[in-house]
Order: sequence, then structure tokens, then C-alpha cells
Amino acid sequence: MSDPITPLLTPSPISPGPQSLIPDMASWREQWIRALKDPSGFWLEQTQSLLEWSAPPQLGGEGDFWSVVEEPIRWFADGELNVSVNCVDRHLMTRGDQAAIIWEADEPGEGFTWTYRQLHEEVCRAANVLSDLGVSAGDRVIIYMGMVPQAAVAMLACARIGAAHSVVFGGFSAEALRDRVIDCGARVVITQDEGRRGGRPVALKTVVDEALAPAEVEVDKVLVFKRAKAETPWIEGRDVDWATACSAVSAEHTPQSFGAEHPLFILYTSGSTGRPKGLMHTSGGYLTYTTYTHRAVFDLREGDVYGCVADVGWITGHSYIVYGPLSNGTTTVMFESTPLYPDASRYWSLVERHKVNIFYTAPTAIRALAALGDEWVNNHDLSSLRVLGTVGEPINPEAWEWYYHVVGRGKCALVDTWWQTETGGISLSPLAGVTPTQPGAATLPLPGIQPILVNPEGHEIHGAGEGRLCLNMPWPGQARTVWGDHERFVKTYFNDFPGRYFTGDGCRRDVEGHHWITGRVDDVLNVAGHRMGTAEFEAALITDDVVAEAAVVGFPHPVKGQGVCAYLVLAQNESSHGALEESLLKRLQSVVRTRIGVHAKLDRVISIPGLPKTRSGKVMRRILRKVAEGETQALGDVSTLADSAVVEAIIKAATEG
Ligand code: WTA
Repeated sequence: MSDPITPLLTPSPISPGPQSLIPDMASWREQWIRALKDPSGFWLEQTQSLLEWSAPPQLGGEGDFWSVVEEPIRWFADGELNVSVNCVDRHLMTRGDQAAIIWEADEPGEGFTWTYRQLHEEVCRAANVLSDLGVSAGDRVIIYMGMVPQAAVAMLACARIGAAHSVVFGGFSAEALRDRVIDCGARVVITQDEGRRGGRPVALKTVVDEALAPAEVEVDKVLVFKRAKAETPWIEGRDVDWATACSAVSAEHTPQSFGAEHPLFILYTSGSTGRPKGLMHTSGGYLTYTTYTHRAVFDLREGDVYGCVADVGWITGHSYIVYGPLSNGTTTVMFESTPLYPDASRYWSLVERHKVNIFYTAPTAIRALAALGDEWVNNHDLSSLRVLGTVGEPINPEAWEWYYHVVGRGKCALVDTWWQTETGGISLSPLAGVTPTQPGAATLPLPGIQPILVNPEGHEIHGAGEGRLCLNMPWPGQARTVWGDHERFVKTYFNDFPGRYFTGDGCRRDVEGHHWITGRVDDVLNVAGHRMGTAEFEAALITDDVVAEAAVVGFPHPVKGQGVCAYLVLAQNESSHGALEESLLKRLQSVVRTRIGVHAKLDRVISIPGLPKTRSGKVMRRILRKVAEGETQALGDVSTLADSAVVEAIIKAATEG
């Protein structure tokens, strides 16, 4: 990694476009200071110029990171708008015939394009169908779909009628889906017969059926989009065919406006403890923030084709495939496949065919593709590309260099965007065309974001240094609460460092004031850009009778960023420890897949005689983490362990396993 004390800054290879919100570093500085001194004034101005309000707000931000303990932060609380009108209807006059969504289906060439006019019709029909199914403002709807444009339609249709959607990534298991359906109290689920990925079917409807089978799950209707024309069991009276229902209703829908703080969606995400929590985002502030950041960070220009290859099941898909791009009237790509199907040139063939100008992906995909060689990239005409983005995990300098030089030919701005499900939108990032960059640095905060570093005692670190990353003032895009549990929201984010929002990430700041994210400092894993809690793995593993105790940690993985390492104390705790036998390993892989989802995999499983616990019974994960990293010497202070001999045995088991 570059020396953070003497950074080598690369100026942006492109100049900002005519619609740039922040055209140079002096403007960034000026706007950042303005937003710091007068956040309400700054954001009121942005929202009035970026969004269409039926009742424009007079109020800016209300509440701070002290008062959040009592009640959620609010933004633009007296304003009213309709989010789907902002993403669709308001573009009809000026760009009705412009492509809104380019669908790149799993099989190359099988996708299609919808104009804003077509998207409008689809959204209106779906909104009418949902209303006919009894969904009304304030209700919750679960969306369990793959990457088809109908998923975006489902989200926008919910927004249009004021129902909060909760999109569940299509890889989650029936159990994980059921937990979410119950937690948010959804009465309607929208799904597909099957998804398609890498030439293979992805079960969706059958997973929904299994999730909803127990009597305590009170779902009235399941709306099924038949993407694959697959044979699926059908429950008469509950299941409704999307196409039939949509063709039976009007293509017109008169939208109602909702208050700025009306819930827009709930998105479940993993934390260091307990079950995933449903972070609740609201309408006006979220849309302002995603619209603003999408435009400012990527230096969006009129006519741009923008391709983010994330999944709508995660926050990146919400903010930067659907809401931000459509609100800005951009042409957004929805990608159903994988970077390796039918071969490793899929992204680049997509860029070439659709003349993509802005391409946004995750470091894990970049690393996987870089390892396969440059020919896959070089065989394609990528001259349309102007901006490259990365998100989801720290990008190592080697992957950054490859993306910049091989994909971007040294001619594209590269923005390493740091943010979280909780922040709603990009919070630290270079601005394309403006900010000088360094490989691996998320660089500088967006206006309205005040990052500070603190030491474990909560003292602020000034100047260059390393610490825990906190954000010091509210911004419009932030999650307002955990659905149904504001106390958990406060406890998770505002307890460790009172008066500040604690991100859970570690961060280094160099002498230029640039930020380098070092990764999570809590028990959240980031595997291939997927966020998972060690606690979720542990809870899954101990459901198997053979496991007496489990402790899961992450370790560095060359492609996935982090791998998952499980230390198990088996019920039949025999004298030999180390690797598990094949059949048991398979069984435990299947346990985590069933409890969590297809994206949850154990990379290493080590049986050990006992966990390293303190006298008060707390597991010292630090030791397990170090051993998983291959460290056997510098394990730090082990004097507080109840039984320090266990460390030797763990090292032995790990090296033999
Ligand atoms: C990590 C994804 C380094 C970080 C948008 C954060 C990053 C977590 C970056 C949030 C980045 C995201 N550099 N780390 N550019 N972007 N992260 O909620 O640890 O799925 O806390 O949101 O991903 O993951 P989430």
C-alpha cells in the first residue's frame, strides 16, 4: 500500500462536464464548508434544484446525534413529494423516448430496453395491481426477485402508492426470507418463477413457498413475474400472475404525494450481533442524497449510459441502479448475469454493446477478472468509458491499478466510493474529473459529511492518523431507524461514541486529509462485497448437534477480500483436532446455506479443543483472527485467558488443518 504520509496524487485524467455540481477542488472546499456551517440551507438548496416537490419543504434537518437517542433525525419534514414521480413521470416531457432501463439478460442478446414512457406505463400498471391486492400507504411489501427490470418496477410501484418495500437478495434462503417477512409484517410478496444466472436457473418462487409455509406467516398475496416460464406450484387464491394482472388494469395511475419522512424502504443488513436489522430509509432526504451524490461523484452528463452491475438486493442496487440514476433521468443498465458468463469478457462486451460511459462494480470482481489476464478486456472497444467506480470493500492498490490502466486505459476517472446501507449514499469518494486520487484511497468527504477519527476511548484524532471512523453530523440520506426497534438503532450506532455516528469501519487519514478505509473493526464480515455477521454464521452452525461451540472470524482472501473461518468445538470433543472430515464439512456448508443463503460459504473450518475465553467467558476473537491470518507468534496479551494452554492447541489445529 502507498505510504500514507507522502501520498502520490494522480490528477483526474478527465475534466468535469458542463453539468458538474462541483467543478473543481476550490468549489468542493467551499461547498463542504458551507454544508458544515449551514447544513439545512445547503440541502434545502440542493433538494429544490434536484427534485420535484408537490409541497416544497421549508424545514431542513431536525435533530442531531444526541437527540437521536429519543427520536429519529428528520429532513425536509414539511415537504411532500412522490418518489416514483421524481424517478419517472417528471422525465416524460423531456425524455419520454429516451432509454430508462437497458436490461442485459443472462444470455447475451436476450435483453431489451425500456424508454421512460414504457417504464411509466409498467410502474402505473404495477401500482394499480398492488392497490387492487389491497396494498395501501404505510404497508410493507417484500420483493424477492433477480435482476429483471420488473424488480425496479416493483420498487417504484410501491413507492408510488406509499408502501415501503423490502428487497431481499435472491440468494437468501427460505429461512432468512421468512425472518424478514415476519419482521417487517409484509402481507404481499413479489417474486419470479425463477431467476437466471450464469446459464442456470435460480429458485425463487419455490423458496417463497417454503418461507411462507408455516401458519404464523401471514401473507395474503404472492405476485409472480414469470421470467423463465418455469413450471412452479401455484396456490390458487394466493398466487397472482404478474403479466395477467398488469394487463387487466389501467396504464394510468394518479399518484398521491407523501411526506418527506414517509418510509420508502426497509433493507436488512448484518451487524456484529444478533439477527440482521431492517434499516429504514425515508423518501425526501434519501432521494435528495442519492440524486445529488450520483450526479456529483460520477460527473453525470446528459445522455450518459450508466452501468452499475450490483444487485437490487443490496443498497448499491437501490441507490445507484434504481433511485439515483432514474431520478437524474439517466439510462441505467440492469445486469442479470455474472462477470464470467459466458466468459470473462462479459462486462466488457456489455460496455461495448451499450456504449456505457460510467461503469460501477466491486473490487472482488475486479480482482477475479484481473487474475484471468488482460486479453478479455483488450478484445473490446471500451472507448465509451469515462468514469469507473468501485464500492463495497477496500480496493487493494494492485486491483486499482489494473482497473485504471487496463480497463480505463489511463483515460478514465476512477472513483473509490465508500458508504454503507446505513449512509444511504456515497459518503467518502473522489469526484470524477476533480479529485486527485491514489490507488486505494476513498479520499475526501462529500459535502454534508463530516468524518472524524477517534481512538477506542472516543478521543478525536486530529491530522494524520488512524482510528475508528465516525460521522459527526446528520445528512439527508442516512437511515432513520431500525424497523420496529429504535433502541437497537441507537445502541448499534450511537452508544460507543456518544454524539457521533459510528460506522464500524477503521480508517487512516494521510497528510493530505485523504481517507483510507482499513476494513471493519467490529464482527461484520465483508466477503466478496457481501456483508454478513459472524454471529449469523455462529447461530447457524450451533443448530447442528455435532457443534458444541462455534466462533467465526474473517481472514484475508486474495479474491473475495475476506474469507470465512469457523473454529468449532465439537460435541464429541476428541483428542485429534484440525480439519473436519469431508462429509461433516459438507453438512455444515449446507447448514449455513439453509440458514443464511447461497452466498454464505465457509472457506476454512477448524476443530479445536476449546475457544480462547477470558475468565468472564468472553471469546477473544483477536487471537482467532490472528491465527486464521497465519500469525502464530505475535498474538498479543493472552494473560487474561482462563486457560492460556488452549492457544497452543488452536495454533496446532490450525496449522495441521
Ligand atoms: C465496506 C455497501 C472500503 C465498509 C455500499 C462498509 C468499503 C461496508 C467501501 C458497508 C470502500 C463499502 N472502501 N470499504 N469503497 N465501500 N465498504 O452496507 O466496511 O453492504 O462499512 O454497503 O462495506 O457495506 P454495505
